[in-house]
Amino acid sequence: MVSRVFLAIMFLGLGAIPVLSLAAEEPAAGDSCMVVSAHPKATELGLSILRRGGNAVDAAVAASLTLGGCEPYSSGLGGGGFFVVFDPVSGDVKTLDARETAPMSAHHDMYLVDGKPDPHLSRDGPLASGVPGLLAGLWELHQFGGQLPWSELVLAAAEAVREIEVSPMLHRRIIQKSQYFNDAARRVFLPQGLVPEIGSSLIQSDLCSTLLSIAEFGPNAFYQGRIAEAMVKVAQSSKGSGLTLQDLASYAPSWRQAIHGHYRDLDIYSMAPPSSGGVHLLQMLHILESFDLKRAGFGSATSVHWMAESMKFAFADRSLFLGDSDFVAIPIAHLLSRARADSLRSLLDPERAYPESLIMGAPLQGLESSETTHLSIIDANGMAVAATFTINLTFGSCRMAAGTGILMNNEMDDFVAAPGTPNAFGLVGGEANSIAAGKRPLSSMTPTIVLQDTRVRMITGAPGGSKIITTTLQLIINVVDHGMDALQAVSAPRIHHQWFPPTLYFEEYGLSPDTRRILESKGHRLVERSPMCNAQVIVVDPESGIRQGASDPRGMGLASGY
Ligand code: GLY
Repeated sequence: MVSRVFLAIMFLGLGAIPVLSLAAEEPAAGDSCMVVSAHPKATELGLSILRRGGNAVDAAVAASLTLGGCEPYSSGLGGGGFFVVFDPVSGDVKTLDARETAPMSAHHDMYLVDGKPDPHLSRDGPLASGVPGLLAGLWELHQFGGQLPWSELVLAAAEAVREIEVSPMLHRRIIQKSQYFNDAARRVFLPQGLVPEIGSSLIQSDLCSTLLSIAEFGPNAFYQGRIAEAMVKVAQSSKGSGLTLQDLASYAPSWRQAIHGHYRDLDIYSMAPPSSGGVHLLQMLHILESFDLKRAGFGSATSVHWMAESMKFAFADRSLFLGDSDFVAIPIAHLLSRARADSLRSLLDPERAYPESLIMGAPLQGLESSETTHLSIIDANGMAVAATFTINLTFGSCRMAAGTGILMNNEMDDFVAAPGTPNAFGLVGGEANSIAAGKRPLSSMTPTIVLQDTRVRMITGAPGGSKIITTTLQLIINVVDHGMDALQAVSAPRIHHQWFPPTLYFEEYGLSPDTRRILESKGHRLVERSPMCNAQVIVVDPESGIRQGASDPRGMGLASGY
């Protein structure tokens, strides 16, 4: 087990958050309900919804809208996401895809200038936004399983986000992105033209009014009429391409068949394409299942080696095969088959890192955002929700629809803008995730529910681009193999390998010098990096049913239950 003292020292070193008392801390615990999210206000509101008789779905609706208002750099009405829901009555796990969708004017080469992708077009410009899906997803989720009235949940969120305190994180991100803000975003995030001070109040009247309309009229208030018109105005180019009212009016979320597989005695349920998260999480777990990670020990060169090797193969497959399954045929059964896991495992050598250049794939360049957000919830009846949602890069496209408080996403940047361009190895690929009208860009979001004997054992997920998938993997291994509690699991140092670039990343102080030497002697190229991901985890004790919750000390979230 990771010692709490070690963790305290590690995070002091990172200097990211005040966790001086971590050595003495325990995970939040409750025998009834637990809410864990990336912001205290969202957790508190979620919990108060549960206290007043709402279920996990109700709490997820209110907390998701609150997160969007309190972490406007990570998620919001202008974005999209994925929801995994466990229904204890039927025993089913359902997965809802509320991912943004390319507008009907989108096409394969829309971001190419002189044959090369122009990242500004897909990140900062009016054409960066896909059709937002979050609100339609929340509505669908509520129709499916909500108990309290929609209006009550949305009104509570409107009240929570009307005035927010400027956190150090929000302050830093405003400084980082203010040069990209359009006028409407500047008016909200730079009051009197200045970066608001840490601890000051930020007033979000337009966002509050938008939520009040949504509380009264449902999603039609967003996908049609004044708010829709404002979104179209900010997400259309001068030549008329980009979002249209028709794109907004026709948006629909999709229930997808969950990606389901086994790891040891557990059932893992996660998100299907257009997220790559579930497929690759299961692929890695299948490869790793034959190794005795517990015996090798947490943080040992042996366990890091096996995890990194499994990551490489999963990410090479991601680059070749994954995209929106409504547009491309993805060999999911083959990728998840035991036969394939066995054959990949047979390539692995305990003494040598498998050369990345020998793994078939299509290396892709791209920005990996550390934004996005996640929440995990379980209610008194055992209903559980894992939700990960985003506007993509920090503050999305940095363009706000005037008079609405809605920041538009830049999720179009998650498509491959120039598939077919030969990479450093002379391989071509990425076509599965090329741009097409009505298609959803590939995501890494990995909201996951783990069951043991038909009851919830873990609810987990994280933000962090490609690192989401490897973080979720390590959270499960920390609990299942290393026997950590929720706080230890979420706090423990992490590694990341995504096959290309051929690099094994580790967090500062995450690997001891002698462990690094052993890994280097096996051929791994190690690079230290800043803290990775801001995970939110619930672990349920299989015997007592006690729910433990922990919000990642790398962030400023809160776990709370009763
Ligand atoms: N935009 C990050 C993701 O969907 O994975």
